[in-house]
Amino acid sequence: MKYKSIRGFKDILPDEIGVWQEFEAAAKEIFVKFNYREIRTPIMEETSLFRQSVGEDTDIVGKEMFSFMDRGERAVTLRPEGTASVVRAYLENNLYKLNTFQKLFYIGPMFRAERPQAGRLRQFHQIGAEAIGSGSPALDAEVINLMTKVLDSCGIKGYVLKLNNLGCRDDKRKLSGILNDNLSEKGASAILCDDCKKRLKTNPLRVLDCKNEDCRSIVRSAFKKAEFLCGACIHHFDEVLKFLNLSGVKYDIDRFIVRGLDYYTSTVFEVVHPSIGSQNAIGAGGRYDNLITDLGGPKLGACGFALGMDRMALTRLKSRDENKAKELDIFIATIGGAALEKGFSLSDEFRIAGFTCDMDYEARSLKSQMRSADKLGARFVLIIGDDEMKKGEAVLRDMRTQEQSFLKFEDVVGRIKSIKS
Ligand code: HAM
Repeated sequence: MKYKSIRGFKDILPDEIGVWQEFEAAAKEIFVKFNYREIRTPIMEETSLFRQSVGEDTDIVGKEMFSFMDRGERAVTLRPEGTASVVRAYLENNLYKLNTFQKLFYIGPMFRAERPQAGRLRQFHQIGAEAIGSGSPALDAEVINLMTKVLDSCGIKGYVLKLNNLGCRDDKRKLSGILNDNLSEKGASAILCDDCKKRLKTNPLRVLDCKNEDCRSIVRSAFKKAEFLCGACIHHFDEVLKFLNLSGVKYDIDRFIVRGLDYYTSTVFEVVHPSIGSQNAIGAGGRYDNLITDLGGPKLGACGFALGMDRMALTRLKSRDENKAKELDIFIATIGGAALEKGFSLSDEFRIAGFTCDMDYEARSLKSQMRSADKLGARFVLIIGDDEMKKGEAVLRDMRTQEQSFLKFEDVVGRIKSIKS
């Protein structure tokens, strides 16, 4: 074979698509209930948008973006995430002038040049939501509640939601300082993994969520007594929990969640699923109260989340066989040119009447056509041959009962309507 898809870029085949379509439909229904409206932003943006919002010292910007110069020598990037683009669109299109508070959702592909493995792709797909224009803790709770409702309606079971309070920018700076001091003081930084040694210089908070066991124990003891949250941020988080409890959402507090994107402040969260291996985060999000001003807009709070659809699909495929072909209402099997013509026009009559219908165009034997009907899960097969053409009728076979009956051509659609209703 001459061509293969690029590593980390995957086809979603017809046999797999059912679960994706189900996720999209279920998510949209929930978004409408929460009054979120869909936004579709371009797949490519100016590179500087992500550098400024996601952050220069993050893994995403540092080593995972698909960035290149376009033909006009502009630095462009395939979007690695949706939040920056949505905020850019919100500001560029003056959405805040119509109504400062906007609740938006999106579904689509994102691109990160990570090392591909199970559950980690270079083109992956997110269902995301951004609520822009409010600093209320009730909004954090709404966004988290919404995310869990989307997961529930998509049939995802057994996930765990973890929450943390990162504090405002000043608090985050304070925590970075504390981590730096504590870790250098004890000489512990020498024992950290190479990545964490770098992180300590560029983005110290990220040492908190390193997966390396040695780093974890050193960092955990250095972090134990860190008091870095201001009164306002402590109060905000308490209120978030109060509202979350009102909506009955179950969560664990995990003080080591920092998230790999710089724009977060105060509430951050992650959803993990135990059944899908090492890439077990199926969703994440948080508040980002500085991003709108950083991108040149007014001072407005915002909060959002994104769910990874590829990983959601993994949890579902593990739990049951989703991919059985849907039932086809009618398959038309024909023998001979005249019967093919009759079947061709009847197939459209069935579709117009609201049935799913397919037929064979290859003049194959009746036996092979019946095999196709079986594979397609046909409920009925309409058989038309030379004899039937002469008599102006067709044989209708019920594939469940194997019963056969003869019907006049003009009666077949009505008959199937009466059986199916
Ligand atoms: P994120 O944590 O980078 O957050 O990504 C969200 C989800 O996308 C992850 O939990 C994961 O399920 C999925 N994901 C990320 N990278 C990959 C990959 N390489 N392969 C497969 N799935 C992946 C964000 O993107 C933020 N924009 C979320 C947000 C929205 N925060 C506020 N608003």
